[in-house]
Amino acid sequence: MADTNTKPTLHQKLFEKNSLILTLGIILTVSVGGVIEIAPLFYLNSTIEEVDGVRPYTPLELMGRQIYLREGCYNCHSQMIRPLRDEVERYGHYSLAAESMYDRPFQWGSKRTGPDLARVGGRYSDEWHRDHLINPQSVVPESIMPPYAFLADAALDYSNIQAHLRVNQFLGVPYSDEAVESARTDLEAQLDEFSSGYDDLVARYPGVQVRDFDGNAGEITEMDALIAYLQVLGTMVDFSTYEPEAAENQR
Ligand code: HEC
Repeated sequence: MADTNTKPTLHQKLFEKNSLILTLGIILTVSVGGVIEIAPLFYLNSTIEEVDGVRPYTPLELMGRQIYLREGCYNCHSQMIRPLRDEVERYGHYSLAAESMYDRPFQWGSKRTGPDLARVGGRYSDEWHRDHLINPQSVVPESIMPPYAFLADAALDYSNIQAHLRVNQFLGVPYSDEAVESARTDLEAQLDEFSSGYDDLVARYPGVQVRDFDGNAGEITEMDALIAYLQVLGTMVDFSTYEPEAAENQR
């Protein structure tokens, strides 16, 4: 039997006997792979499949999100349900990229001292959230979550809400100029279904939940904003009608 297979070719010898040439060869190979993988991301408009129902946060939800960031809730809570069976059974449909497309920055996280919050919206009542945030052990006796009772007494400072929307608009979130202009009235309208701004708010943010969230209608508190944010998480996509694009293409 000829042993030509085991005999190194001239090229092999060149690379194997000369570490510098081998290193350059590796760098060249890896960069070609890298360019093929990374370059398209710079000229594709979007790598996210758009999904019906996903809309930008209302001004009140956006302020709630600010409080979520300020208080570091992300240190203990992730917002990404992975497509694994145990996760889906516990938390619901796995998270879609489109569901966090207007999050600047996203809150996926990797640390779960507490449960994932990507679909916590609608799971509990506003009262439950209020009690839980004021004193977590009052509703979950074994909880190790710290209390955030002060949020119920802290007046929400939304003097810079228009700037928040404008920055998001600049970053590509589709807020209209009108939405930026009306941010203050929209924020107030979300807490009062009888306000004059109600119709405009609902037209701008389809499916928005309008009510007083903290059970204290006289005041706009940080608790209002945070609960409004928690109650919208994971509720924008209607999964009873949702079909992934790939599945549609196969039909
Ligand atoms: C030190 C870690 C920690 C921090 C910080 C923390 N949590 Fe929690 N959270 C937990 C743990 C543990 C639980 C599970 C026990 C319970 O329900 O209280 C939990 C539960 C929850 C739940 C109920 C989730 C479910 O599906 O039952 C919500 C909502 C929640 N946290 C919101 C928040 C918000 C909002 C903040 C920030 C203001 C926050 N958490 C900060 C640890 C934390």
